[in-house]
Amino acid sequence: MALKVLTCSQNKGGSGKTTVSRLVAEYAALAGHRVLCIDLDPQCSLSQRFLRMDKDPDQTNVFMPPIYPGFDPASPDPEEFDPEFSGRSSAADIYLGAPVYPYPTNHENLELLCGHGPDLMRVERVTQEDVSRLVHHCLRDFMVARNVGDHYDLVVIDTAPTLGPLTVSAVRAATHVIIPTTMEPQGVEGLQGMLTLWRDENARRARDEPIKLLGMVANKFRSRVALQEATLGNLRSDAVIGPMMIPHVLGLRAEIAEQDHDSVRPHGVFDLPASSKGRREAEALCRFVMEEMELAPMKEIAA
Ligand SMILES: Nc1ncnc2c1ncn2[C@@H]1O[C@H](COP(=O)(O)OP(=O)(O)OP(=O)(O)O)[C@@H](O)[C@H]1O
Ligand SMILES: [Mg+2]
Repeated sequence: MALKVLTCSQNKGGSGKTTVSRLVAEYAALAGHRVLCIDLDPQCSLSQRFLRMDKDPDQTNVFMPPIYPGFDPASPDPEEFDPEFSGRSSAADIYLGAPVYPYPTNHENLELLCGHGPDLMRVERVTQEDVSRLVHHCLRDFMVARNVGDHYDLVVIDTAPTLGPLTVSAVRAATHVIIPTTMEPQGVEGLQGMLTLWRDENARRARDEPIKLLGMVANKFRSRVALQEATLGNLRSDAVIGPMMIPHVLGLRAEIAEQDHDSVRPHGVFDLPASSKGRREAEALCRFVMEEMELAPMKEIAA
């Protein structure tokens, strides 16, 4: 089966990119697929969900990958590790030409190419002329060169809230794109830029399969709030946007937000009781995503 690559993007911050990436990745891993998450956001939010990240000693709240499991900085095993390997690997290394090692996580079937605050910021800052040559192709080339499809069934890419070079590279590497958005005017404003990026990338794909837009998913939706209901209604009835709206929404659910905190148990939305609305909504969305991507979904949970 050909590798599926889902890029989760939206240039509006806080719209739910990391949440949706995490839900889809966990769901697919539970359904038995081999999943690789790639965190392209210097904030490293997705990485922190799956791995205990280290903090950059020189900057507050800037994260970097921990020392790779089994790597001994004093005497690295040359059989197992590239001589160039520093002991920490991140998604930034794809762009910087350094050795790349996905980390195992606390989820079976789910590996992670973590974010790295300072290094991803370095990649984002490459000069405009060099962007296309140095960054835009990198992720797609890496997937081919490393035969990522031999090791995984699904790659889920979380991006920063920008349409910068890393996000362009993520869309270029994608087979599918999903755009989470909140039902507020500021959230919806971000859609145009994302749609333009998706269309531009597809226009470049002469003979390749086009990138399939799974659609826009309304996140943190509050039913019975007039502005939210009106915004969703307007989008659904819009001649252009309407057909792109995913028919499932994620409500603003405490249990979805709570899963971000290490201390909360159970830690995964799919470990919550079947009666949890958050779990049921997440499951309906993920089932839709799996079906659209032609990946087998989990068995349905009992009502
Ligand atoms: N459906 C939801 N219900 C409740 N809280 C949510 C929901 N979706 C996301 N959140 C919370 O909203 C915040 C922002 O969500 P998230 O981090 O997924 O957005 P993002 O688009 O990745 O943000 P950024 O642009 O900063 O990367 C997080 O604290 C998350 O827990
Ligand atoms: Mg995020």
